[in-house]
Amino acid sequence: MGFLSVAYQLLFLQLLLFHSQGSATLCSQDQKVRIDNKNLTVYIPSSQSQVSRKNIKPYPTTDPLHLVTSVQIVNEETNLPACDFNHNVPVLVFSSGGYTGNLFHEMDELIIPLFITSRHFRSNLKFVIIDYKAWWVNKYSRILSRLSRYEFINPAVNGSVHCFPGAVIGLKFHGLLALNRTDIPGGAKTRRFVNEHEMVVMMEELGFGVFAGGCGHLAGGATGLDWASSNYFGEPAREMGVKYLEYTIEPEESTLFQTYGKDHAVVTDPQSIFVKGYQAARAVCIDEQNLKINVERFGETLFQAKQLIEDSSSLN
Ligand SMILES: *[C@@H]1O[C@H](CO)[C@@H](O)[C@H](O)[C@H]1NC(C)=O
Ligand SMILES: *[C@@H]1O[C@H](CO)[C@@H](O)[C@H](O)[C@H]1NC(C)=O
Ligand SMILES: *[C@@H]1O[C@H](CO)[C@@H](O)[C@H](O)[C@H]1NC(C)=O
Repeated sequence: MGFLSVAYQLLFLQLLLFHSQGSATLCSQDQKVRIDNKNLTVYIPSSQSQVSRKNIKPYPTTDPLHLVTSVQIVNEETNLPACDFNHNVPVLVFSSGGYTGNLFHEMDELIIPLFITSRHFRSNLKFVIIDYKAWWVNKYSRILSRLSRYEFINPAVNGSVHCFPGAVIGLKFHGLLALNRTDIPGGAKTRRFVNEHEMVVMMEELGFGVFAGGCGHLAGGATGLDWASSNYFGEPAREMGVKYLEYTIEPEESTLFQTYGKDHAVVTDPQSIFVKGYQAARAVCIDEQNLKINVERFGETLFQAKQLIEDSSSLN
Protein backbone atom coordinates (compact mmCIF):
# COMPACT_ATOMS: atom_id res chain seq x y z
CA MET A 1 0.00 0.00 0.00
CA GLY A 2 1.57 3.24 -1.10
CA PHE A 3 1.76 6.46 0.81
CA LEU A 4 -1.18 7.93 -1.00
CA SER A 5 -3.52 5.12 -0.17
CA VAL A 6 -2.44 5.20 3.49
CA ALA A 7 -3.13 8.92 3.56
CA TYR A 8 -6.44 8.26 1.93
CA GLN A 9 -7.38 5.63 4.51
CA LEU A 10 -6.48 7.94 7.38
CA LEU A 11 -8.45 10.80 5.95
CA PHE A 12 -11.35 8.52 5.34
CA LEU A 13 -11.56 7.82 9.07
CA GLN A 14 -11.26 11.36 10.20
CA LEU A 15 -13.48 14.33 10.42
CA LEU A 16 -11.39 17.31 9.52
CA LEU A 17 -12.42 20.81 10.28
CA PHE A 18 -10.57 23.61 8.63
CA HIS A 19 -11.66 26.97 9.81
CA SER A 20 -10.84 30.30 8.36
CA GLN A 21 -7.12 31.05 8.22
CA GLY A 22 -6.47 27.38 7.62
CA SER A 23 -6.10 26.00 11.12
CA ALA A 24 -7.35 22.47 11.46
CA THR A 25 -8.93 20.31 14.16
CA LEU A 26 -8.83 16.57 13.71
CA CYS A 27 -11.28 14.16 15.23
CA SER A 28 -11.17 10.40 15.02
CA GLN A 29 -14.36 9.25 13.54
CA ASP A 30 -15.72 5.74 13.35
CA GLN A 31 -19.36 6.59 13.03
CA LYS A 32 -21.30 8.22 10.30
CA VAL A 33 -21.33 11.97 9.84
CA ARG A 34 -24.83 13.20 9.10
CA ILE A 35 -25.55 16.41 7.29
CA ASP A 36 -29.02 17.83 7.42
CA ASN A 37 -29.06 19.99 4.32
CA LYS A 38 -32.22 21.82 5.34
CA ASN A 39 -30.48 23.79 8.08
CA LEU A 40 -26.85 22.95 7.24
CA THR A 41 -26.32 21.04 10.46
CA VAL A 42 -23.54 18.47 10.70
CA TYR A 43 -24.02 15.80 13.38
CA ILE A 44 -21.00 14.07 14.84
CA PRO A 45 -21.04 11.67 17.81
CA SER A 46 -20.09 13.58 20.98
CA SER A 47 -17.82 10.83 22.33
CA GLN A 48 -15.67 11.16 19.21
CA SER A 49 -15.52 14.86 19.14
CA GLN A 50 -12.75 17.28 19.88
CA VAL A 51 -14.39 20.01 17.90
CA SER A 52 -13.63 23.37 19.39
CA ARG A 53 -15.96 25.44 17.26
CA LYS A 54 -19.63 24.88 16.67
CA ASN A 55 -20.12 27.30 13.83
CA ILE A 56 -17.89 27.07 10.81
CA LYS A 57 -17.85 29.23 7.73
CA PRO A 58 -16.52 26.81 5.14
CA TYR A 59 -14.52 29.43 3.28
CA PRO A 60 -10.78 29.94 3.74
CA THR A 61 -10.60 33.64 4.52
CA THR A 62 -12.54 35.89 6.84
CA ASP A 63 -15.95 37.02 5.70
CA PRO A 64 -16.46 40.65 6.72
CA LEU A 65 -19.22 41.16 4.12
CA HIS A 66 -21.24 38.13 5.30
CA LEU A 67 -21.24 36.41 1.93
CA VAL A 68 -20.72 32.91 3.36
CA THR A 69 -23.36 30.83 5.14
CA SER A 70 -22.30 29.06 8.35
CA VAL A 71 -22.45 25.34 8.93
CA GLN A 72 -23.51 24.26 12.39
CA ILE A 73 -21.64 21.40 14.03
CA VAL A 74 -23.61 19.46 16.62
CA ASN A 75 -22.22 16.76 18.94
CA GLU A 76 -25.04 14.33 19.31
CA GLU A 77 -25.41 10.61 20.01
CA THR A 78 -29.17 10.37 20.27
CA ASN A 79 -31.96 12.08 18.37
CA LEU A 80 -30.03 11.81 15.16
CA PRO A 81 -32.01 12.53 12.01
CA ALA A 82 -32.60 9.44 9.84
CA CYS A 83 -30.38 9.14 6.78
CA ASP A 84 -32.25 9.78 3.53
CA PHE A 85 -29.10 8.96 1.55
CA ASN A 86 -26.15 6.81 2.62
CA HIS A 87 -22.94 7.64 0.79
CA ASN A 88 -19.89 5.39 0.81
CA VAL A 89 -17.27 8.09 0.25
CA PRO A 90 -16.45 11.09 2.44
CA VAL A 91 -17.77 14.56 1.87
CA LEU A 92 -16.14 17.95 1.51
CA VAL A 93 -18.37 20.83 2.48
CA PHE A 94 -17.44 24.28 1.22
CA SER A 95 -19.05 27.53 0.17
CA SER A 96 -18.89 29.00 -3.31
CA GLY A 97 -20.06 32.30 -1.86
CA GLY A 98 -17.37 34.72 -0.75
CA TYR A 99 -15.67 36.75 -3.43
CA THR A 100 -16.53 34.55 -6.39
CA GLY A 101 -17.00 36.80 -9.38
CA ASN A 102 -13.46 38.02 -9.03
CA LEU A 103 -11.03 35.77 -10.85
CA PHE A 104 -8.24 36.32 -8.37
CA HIS A 105 -10.39 35.34 -5.37
CA GLU A 106 -11.87 32.38 -7.25
CA MET A 107 -8.37 31.02 -7.78
CA ASP A 108 -6.92 31.98 -4.47
CA GLU A 109 -9.76 31.17 -2.10
CA LEU A 110 -11.46 28.31 -3.92
CA ILE A 111 -9.57 26.53 -6.69
CA ILE A 112 -6.16 26.31 -4.98
CA PRO A 113 -7.60 25.49 -1.51
CA LEU A 114 -9.96 22.94 -3.10
CA PHE A 115 -6.99 21.29 -4.74
CA ILE A 116 -4.97 21.22 -1.51
CA THR A 117 -7.89 19.88 0.49
CA SER A 118 -9.29 17.29 -1.87
CA ARG A 119 -6.50 16.03 -4.09
CA HIS A 120 -5.45 13.17 -1.77
CA PHE A 121 -8.91 11.64 -2.05
CA ARG A 122 -8.18 11.04 -5.74
CA SER A 123 -11.65 12.14 -6.80
CA ASN A 124 -13.32 9.73 -4.37
CA LEU A 125 -15.26 12.25 -2.38
CA LYS A 126 -18.45 14.19 -2.79
CA PHE A 127 -18.81 17.94 -2.70
CA VAL A 128 -21.59 19.63 -0.80
CA ILE A 129 -21.44 23.17 -2.14
CA ILE A 130 -23.25 25.71 -0.04
CA ASP A 131 -24.07 29.20 -1.36
CA TYR A 132 -24.14 27.27 -4.64
CA LYS A 133 -23.56 29.39 -7.72
CA ALA A 134 -24.33 27.49 -10.90
CA TRP A 135 -22.27 29.85 -13.09
CA TRP A 136 -19.23 29.29 -10.88
CA VAL A 137 -19.62 25.52 -10.96
CA ASN A 138 -19.97 25.66 -14.76
CA LYS A 139 -17.00 27.95 -15.17
CA TYR A 140 -14.70 25.54 -13.30
CA SER A 141 -16.46 22.30 -14.21
CA ARG A 142 -13.38 20.81 -15.85
CA ILE A 143 -11.27 21.26 -12.74
CA LEU A 144 -14.04 20.37 -10.30
CA SER A 145 -14.88 17.15 -12.13
CA ARG A 146 -11.28 16.03 -11.72
CA LEU A 147 -11.32 16.70 -7.99
CA SER A 148 -14.60 14.86 -7.42
CA ARG A 149 -15.98 12.19 -9.72
CA TYR A 150 -19.52 12.56 -8.32
CA GLU A 151 -22.40 14.91 -8.89
CA PHE A 152 -22.22 17.93 -6.62
CA ILE A 153 -24.83 18.29 -3.92
CA ASN A 154 -26.50 21.67 -3.66
CA PRO A 155 -28.27 21.82 -0.29
CA ALA A 156 -30.59 24.57 -1.54
CA VAL A 157 -32.26 22.08 -3.91
CA ASN A 158 -31.49 18.86 -2.05
CA GLY A 159 -32.68 19.40 1.51
CA SER A 160 -32.31 15.78 2.61
CA VAL A 161 -30.24 14.17 5.36
CA HIS A 162 -27.04 12.81 3.82
CA CYS A 163 -24.78 10.38 5.71
CA PHE A 164 -21.08 9.94 5.03
CA PRO A 165 -18.24 7.83 6.43
CA GLY A 166 -16.15 10.96 6.97
CA ALA A 167 -16.28 14.67 6.37
CA VAL A 168 -14.08 17.65 5.71
CA ILE A 169 -15.74 20.91 6.57
CA GLY A 170 -14.10 23.90 4.95
CA LEU A 171 -10.98 24.34 2.86
CA LYS A 172 -7.32 24.28 3.70
CA PHE A 173 -5.54 27.48 2.93
CA HIS A 174 -1.80 28.04 2.72
CA GLY A 175 -1.99 31.79 2.23
CA LEU A 176 -2.45 34.04 -0.74
CA LEU A 177 -1.65 32.20 -3.97
CA ALA A 178 0.32 29.71 -1.91
CA LEU A 179 0.77 25.98 -2.15
CA ASN A 180 2.71 24.55 0.77
CA ARG A 181 4.63 21.67 -0.68
CA THR A 182 5.28 19.97 2.69
CA ASP A 183 1.59 19.80 3.47
CA ILE A 184 0.54 17.98 0.30
CA PRO A 185 0.72 14.17 0.37
CA GLY A 186 3.42 13.15 -2.08
CA GLY A 187 4.68 16.76 -2.08
CA ALA A 188 5.94 16.55 -5.67
CA LYS A 189 2.32 16.79 -6.78
CA THR A 190 2.68 20.56 -6.55
CA ARG A 191 4.50 20.56 -9.85
CA ARG A 192 1.92 18.38 -11.50
CA PHE A 193 -0.76 20.82 -10.54
CA VAL A 194 1.12 23.68 -12.11
CA ASN A 195 1.50 21.63 -15.24
CA GLU A 196 -2.18 20.98 -15.57
CA HIS A 197 -3.29 22.77 -18.68
CA GLU A 198 -6.28 24.52 -17.13
CA MET A 199 -4.13 25.78 -14.30
CA VAL A 200 -1.64 27.33 -16.63
CA VAL A 201 -4.36 28.89 -18.74
CA MET A 202 -5.90 30.43 -15.66
CA MET A 203 -2.60 31.55 -14.24
CA GLU A 204 -2.01 33.30 -17.52
CA GLU A 205 -5.43 34.87 -17.38
CA LEU A 206 -4.45 36.14 -13.96
CA GLY A 207 -1.45 37.85 -15.39
CA PHE A 208 1.12 35.20 -14.51
CA GLY A 209 3.88 34.35 -16.87
CA VAL A 210 4.83 30.70 -16.41
CA PHE A 211 8.37 29.88 -17.48
CA ALA A 212 9.64 26.32 -17.39
CA GLY A 213 12.49 26.08 -14.92
CA GLY A 214 12.88 29.82 -14.73
CA CYS A 215 11.31 32.59 -12.78
CA GLY A 216 7.79 33.87 -13.19
CA HIS A 217 7.19 37.56 -13.62
CA LEU A 218 3.98 39.30 -12.81
CA ALA A 219 2.91 42.68 -13.96
CA GLY A 220 0.04 44.23 -12.08
CA GLY A 221 -1.31 47.66 -11.34
CA ALA A 222 -4.43 49.55 -12.15
CA THR A 223 -5.79 52.74 -10.76
CA GLY A 224 -6.96 52.28 -7.16
CA LEU A 225 -5.53 48.79 -6.95
CA ASP A 226 -1.97 49.51 -5.86
CA TRP A 227 -2.57 48.08 -2.41
CA ALA A 228 -4.28 44.99 -3.79
CA SER A 229 -1.55 44.45 -6.38
CA SER A 230 1.23 44.61 -3.82
CA ASN A 231 -0.56 42.43 -1.28
CA TYR A 232 -2.11 39.88 -3.60
CA PHE A 233 0.75 39.57 -6.08
CA GLY A 234 3.90 41.22 -4.71
CA GLU A 235 3.91 39.63 -1.28
CA PRO A 236 3.10 36.04 -2.40
CA ALA A 237 5.65 36.38 -5.18
CA ARG A 238 8.34 37.34 -2.66
CA GLU A 239 7.35 34.43 -0.42
CA MET A 240 7.60 32.02 -3.32
CA GLY A 241 10.99 33.43 -4.23
CA VAL A 242 9.62 34.70 -7.53
CA LYS A 243 10.89 38.00 -8.93
CA TYR A 244 8.17 40.62 -8.96
CA LEU A 245 8.05 43.69 -11.11
CA GLU A 246 5.33 46.26 -10.76
CA TYR A 247 3.99 48.45 -13.52
CA THR A 248 1.75 51.21 -12.23
CA ILE A 249 -0.41 52.85 -14.83
CA GLU A 250 -0.84 56.57 -15.27
CA PRO A 251 -4.44 57.88 -15.06
CA GLU A 252 -4.60 58.24 -18.87
CA GLU A 253 -4.02 54.52 -19.29
CA SER A 254 -7.27 53.69 -17.53
CA THR A 255 -10.58 53.82 -19.37
CA LEU A 256 -11.94 55.37 -16.16
CA PHE A 257 -10.13 58.52 -17.28
CA GLN A 258 -12.28 58.72 -20.43
CA THR A 259 -15.46 57.63 -18.66
CA TYR A 260 -15.28 59.94 -15.66
CA GLY A 261 -12.93 62.72 -16.75
CA LYS A 262 -9.62 63.78 -15.28
CA ASP A 263 -11.12 65.63 -12.28
CA HIS A 264 -13.38 62.85 -10.98
CA ALA A 265 -12.59 61.28 -7.60
CA VAL A 266 -12.30 57.87 -9.28
CA VAL A 267 -9.23 59.21 -11.06
CA THR A 268 -7.83 61.75 -8.58
CA ASP A 269 -8.52 59.87 -5.35
CA PRO A 270 -9.29 56.16 -5.93
CA GLN A 271 -9.05 55.48 -2.20
CA SER A 272 -12.27 57.45 -1.70
CA ILE A 273 -14.05 54.79 -3.79
CA PHE A 274 -12.61 51.97 -1.71
CA VAL A 275 -13.85 53.64 1.48
CA LYS A 276 -17.38 52.96 0.16
CA GLY A 277 -16.75 49.23 0.44
CA TYR A 278 -15.59 46.35 -1.69
CA GLN A 279 -18.67 46.02 -3.91
CA ALA A 280 -18.68 49.70 -4.85
CA ALA A 281 -14.95 49.70 -5.50
CA ARG A 282 -15.15 46.47 -7.41
CA ALA A 283 -17.92 47.77 -9.63
CA VAL A 284 -15.76 50.70 -10.71
CA CYS A 285 -12.14 49.68 -10.36
CA ILE A 286 -12.38 46.07 -11.43
CA ASP A 287 -15.51 45.51 -13.49
CA GLU A 288 -15.64 48.87 -15.24
CA GLN A 289 -11.97 49.51 -15.69
CA ASN A 290 -10.10 48.55 -18.79
CA LEU A 291 -6.53 49.41 -19.48
CA LYS A 292 -4.97 51.04 -22.47
CA ILE A 293 -1.34 50.48 -21.76
CA ASN A 294 1.30 52.99 -22.76
CA VAL A 295 3.26 50.52 -24.82
CA GLU A 296 6.47 52.51 -24.67
CA ARG A 297 6.50 52.81 -20.88
CA PHE A 298 5.34 49.22 -20.38
CA GLY A 299 8.08 48.12 -22.73
CA GLU A 300 10.62 49.34 -20.15
CA THR A 301 9.13 47.03 -17.54
CA LEU A 302 9.13 44.14 -20.01
CA PHE A 303 12.73 44.93 -20.81
CA GLN A 304 13.64 44.68 -17.08
CA ALA A 305 11.78 41.35 -16.96
CA LYS A 306 13.69 40.08 -19.96
CA GLN A 307 16.99 41.08 -18.36
CA LEU A 308 16.05 39.22 -15.18
CA ILE A 309 15.30 36.10 -17.22
CA GLU A 310 18.58 36.41 -19.07
CA ASP A 311 20.51 36.97 -15.81
CA SER A 312 18.90 33.95 -14.15
CA SER A 313 19.40 31.67 -17.16
CA SER A 314 23.08 32.63 -17.44
CA LEU A 315 23.44 31.44 -13.80
CA ASN A 316 22.00 28.02 -14.62
C1 LIG B 1 -32.18 21.09 11.94
O1 LIG B 1 -33.44 20.60 11.50
C2 LIG B 1 -33.84 19.37 12.13
C3 LIG B 1 -35.14 18.94 11.51
O2 LIG B 1 -34.95 18.74 10.14
C4 LIG B 1 -34.01 19.58 13.62
O3 LIG B 1 -34.34 18.35 14.25
C5 LIG B 1 -32.72 20.10 14.20
O4 LIG B 1 -32.87 20.41 15.55
C6 LIG B 1 -32.24 21.35 13.44
N1 LIG B 1 -30.93 21.66 13.94
C7 LIG B 1 -30.63 22.83 14.44
C8 LIG B 1 -29.25 22.96 15.00
O5 LIG B 1 -31.40 23.77 14.45
C1 LIG C 1 -30.24 14.45 -3.65
O1 LIG C 1 -29.00 13.77 -3.52
C2 LIG C 1 -29.10 12.36 -3.69
C3 LIG C 1 -27.76 11.73 -3.38
O2 LIG C 1 -26.70 12.43 -3.97
C4 LIG C 1 -29.55 12.05 -5.11
O3 LIG C 1 -29.68 10.66 -5.28
C5 LIG C 1 -30.91 12.72 -5.32
O4 LIG C 1 -31.32 12.52 -6.65
C6 LIG C 1 -30.81 14.24 -5.04
N1 LIG C 1 -32.13 14.82 -5.12
C7 LIG C 1 -32.33 15.95 -5.80
C8 LIG C 1 -33.72 16.51 -5.75
O5 LIG C 1 -31.45 16.53 -6.42
C1 LIG D 1 3.88 24.33 5.51
O1 LIG D 1 3.38 23.17 6.17
C2 LIG D 1 4.21 22.70 7.22
C3 LIG D 1 3.60 21.40 7.70
O2 LIG D 1 2.21 21.51 7.86
C4 LIG D 1 4.31 23.76 8.30
O3 LIG D 1 5.17 23.30 9.33
C5 LIG D 1 4.87 25.03 7.71
O4 LIG D 1 4.89 26.06 8.68
C6 LIG D 1 4.01 25.48 6.51
N1 LIG D 1 4.62 26.63 5.87
C7 LIG D 1 3.92 27.69 5.50
C8 LIG D 1 4.70 28.78 4.81
O5 LIG D 1 2.73 27.77 5.69
